[in-house]
Amino acid sequence: MSNHFDVAVIGAGAAGMMCAAVAGQRGKRVVLIDHASKLAEKIRISGGGRCNFTNVDAGPQNFLSSNPHFCRSALSRYTPQDFLALMKRHGIPWHEKHKGQLFCDRSAEDIIAMLRAECDAGGVAWRMPAKVESLHKEGGRFAIGTDGGALSTDSVVIASGGLSIPKIGATDLAFRIARQFDIPVIEPQPALVPLTFDAAGWQPFVPLAGIALPVDIETGAKKTRMHFREDLLFTHRGLSGPAVLQISSFWQPGAALTVNLLPDIDVAEELLKDKGAIRKNLGNHLSQWLPARLAEGLLSANGFDASARPADMQDKQLRRLGDVLNRWTIVPDGSEGYRKAEVTRGGVDTRALSQQSMMVGKVPGLYFIGEAVDVTGWLGGYNFQWAWASGVATGKAV
Ligand code: FDA
Repeated sequence: MSNHFDVAVIGAGAAGMMCAAVAGQRGKRVVLIDHASKLAEKIRISGGGRCNFTNVDAGPQNFLSSNPHFCRSALSRYTPQDFLALMKRHGIPWHEKHKGQLFCDRSAEDIIAMLRAECDAGGVAWRMPAKVESLHKEGGRFAIGTDGGALSTDSVVIASGGLSIPKIGATDLAFRIARQFDIPVIEPQPALVPLTFDAAGWQPFVPLAGIALPVDIETGAKKTRMHFREDLLFTHRGLSGPAVLQISSFWQPGAALTVNLLPDIDVAEELLKDKGAIRKNLGNHLSQWLPARLAEGLLSANGFDASARPADMQDKQLRRLGDVLNRWTIVPDGSEGYRKAEVTRGGVDTRALSQQSMMVGKVPGLYFIGEAVDVTGWLGGYNFQWAWASGVATGKAV
């Protein structure tokens, strides 16, 4: 077995398998290296096991990066429609959920099997499980040390992902290699992650764990304010659900979140309009709009008496209640971290990479793709679309 290849792809996840398949099918001798014993575990667990594999509306506006235009080229050259065409060739059924999110009808295993078959069609060689221990550039070639032996290659593609979910194999390999070659890294941080609150302050909300409801959520200063309308979920330690996962990518430590718990109702206006005619007490009246347990929890946490009748309350109290429900302002004390984060924001600084090929300008033959790069998608299939698009861009160029 020869130990020299044209291309080594390190990381057999979404981006790595796509890149290896495309390069292999161009006739390149490709080796795919991964330290995991089970292939593509992140694809397997994604989308609740059905993999939200793309979003029909994916565009540069759905990504965070300190260099926002970088992703434009790869995304425009490999679109969600291109990925759907590949799935069609493999006979994989899918369906659309809300907001353009596409899921497998059967299971995420379909996507893994498809990528594996595409790698086979490109004659890709596998070294798995094999842990990468060193990478050096010697003359025009790269020497890769693994715990399964040494390899030499003309090019190396780093597709080892970010830091999220170390339990299933995430490592900081990409960032270590970047630093070794003096390539800047934008500080990695957990993103698409549940947010937590100081334990004492959160105590009144602990009994609300499990309650979910659609909200408007926002954070940030005026100019950079981000806003999502999605479902919010109360947990024992804080808040989760799509609304909070989305906003977490934009939240800065110390900043407040503003949550409109009843985005379609102006609570103060409704209560003041005909407060004399409201027969029910406050708790019962609010429970027409909110889960009763949530209404009671919020009333007591904010010093309102759930048994009071709106007719007996002052207008200013009702306005304050309107603020509590339409502009609930809270300051998280942190997040659940990489243990629960779906992705890592930050990563290899795109200013060091070619936007056409993802190659490092000052290290010819070295490429970074997928989540390792400072391009982070919103929740909703965008991160896989970036993995496919960046994988194809490099697969065609390498
Ligand atoms: P990915 O993490 O997929 O692959 C990296 C590979 O490198 C892994 O196989 C790993 O074992 C390997 N590796 C790491 N270190 C190594 C080392 N030192 N040596 C050798 N190999 C090494 N996105 C989306 O668009 N839709 C969705 O539905 C979901 N759902 C979802 C759920 C959950 C629970 C998580 C954690 C994440 C998601 N995501 C998602 C995000 C998505 O999974 C993620 O963005 C992509 O998998 C990133 O693809 P990459 O190929 O870049 O990394």
